[in-house]
Amino acid sequence: MSSALFSPLTLAGCRLANRLVVSPMCQYSAVDGVAQQWHWIHTGALMMSGAGLVILEATAVEAAGRGTPVCLGLYDDAQEAALTRLVADMRRLSETRIGLQLSHAGRRAATRTIAERWRGEPLPADEGAWRPVAPSAIAYDDHWQQPEELDAAGLARIRRAFAASATRADRAGFDLLEIHAAHGYLLHNFLSPLTNRRTDRYGGSGAARMGFPLEVMAAVRDAWPVGKPLGVRVNSTDWHPEGSTLDDAVAFVAALKRIGVDYAVMSAGNIAPGARIPPASPGHQVPFAERIKQEVGLPVMAVGFIVEATQAEAIIATGSADMVALGRAFLDNPRWGWHAAAALGHEISYPSQYIRARPNNWTGFVKAHPDSTVVGTQQMDRPAAAQWDRPRGA
Ligand SMILES: Cc1cc2nc3c(=O)[nH]c(=O)nc-3n(C[C@H](O)[C@H](O)[C@H](O)COP(=O)(O)O)c2cc1C
Repeated sequence: MSSALFSPLTLAGCRLANRLVVSPMCQYSAVDGVAQQWHWIHTGALMMSGAGLVILEATAVEAAGRGTPVCLGLYDDAQEAALTRLVADMRRLSETRIGLQLSHAGRRAATRTIAERWRGEPLPADEGAWRPVAPSAIAYDDHWQQPEELDAAGLARIRRAFAASATRADRAGFDLLEIHAAHGYLLHNFLSPLTNRRTDRYGGSGAARMGFPLEVMAAVRDAWPVGKPLGVRVNSTDWHPEGSTLDDAVAFVAALKRIGVDYAVMSAGNIAPGARIPPASPGHQVPFAERIKQEVGLPVMAVGFIVEATQAEAIIATGSADMVALGRAFLDNPRWGWHAAAALGHEISYPSQYIRARPNNWTGFVKAHPDSTVVGTQQMDRPAAAQWDRPRGA
């Protein structure tokens, strides 16, 4: 049985073995922006998840752009050295492609971590809070810090910081780069009329509000090799009556396409407390990706509440999106890709160390996964069948 989800995709010369992606997820485990042992364990498990691409978490382009004090950064040599080692070690484990998301948290910087963060708590001054920056001096909420409005020198610094981090990411060996322009982070702060009240050329009309994010993307495009995919995570809608709409997102992605961006991830939300976000339902953001794909013709990644193999398969098979990214499903089950492949009747590579748990090597598989279309055959200890790829170095 052939699977659309598990069919290969070539993006800007980079071949992904399949269209299943691990979405970037902050781990709040860095020290001074430097990756730690947790990143090896977490990323290592996901590199063997069956996904064709793993994208590492939002990684700040300058210290003030970190969401929390324990977010990853890529603005100094120690951070670059750690990520270089991480990428090299991951390549020894698996042929899964590895990407990085670069970000600047804008007015959502300097918050508490993990559980507290989800309550939207700003970091208190005595816990090391720093002053966030933003297009306009409008705080996220009542008890949040008022961000500093970026002047011309600040804008130039941030353009340079994104480009410099892109160069570092290339040197570190990442296959793909994604720029975070969603979820209330800095570039999204420029795009949304809720957070951008500037009266200079970067504020006002929709076209003017796109100006600074597009300058950043042009600088990143120059710094990041054309032979490696460059993507952008976009807010499809602010879910707010005075916020950005899907029409704005269409215009933004069309402009990104013109400057050579290779794909867009269509996400949503998180710009301001007054957003009226409908309750999440399975695949709730897929129609955004579908509209961008149809109207702009740029490859798109769908994300958000994609949990079932058949759901992911249908998104690709119907042409709604070119890739699907899953977040929490992979945290819940880092072997999600293996089980999705089995459920869809597709054979993917297992690390040789785990080959005895592969569906046709282990009758227990059928009991553990009754919905699978792959049948256990009691072939314990037989060598892997030729059609099964083996991971490099495994
Ligand atoms: C723990 C956690 C951390 C996240 N960190 C990021 C991030 O660094 N960058 C980003 O763009 N989205 C981030 N997200 C959002 C996810 O990438 C994804 O868009 C979201 O979880 C919806 O997909 P899901 O329903 O498959 O989890 C995070 C989500 C979770 C659960």
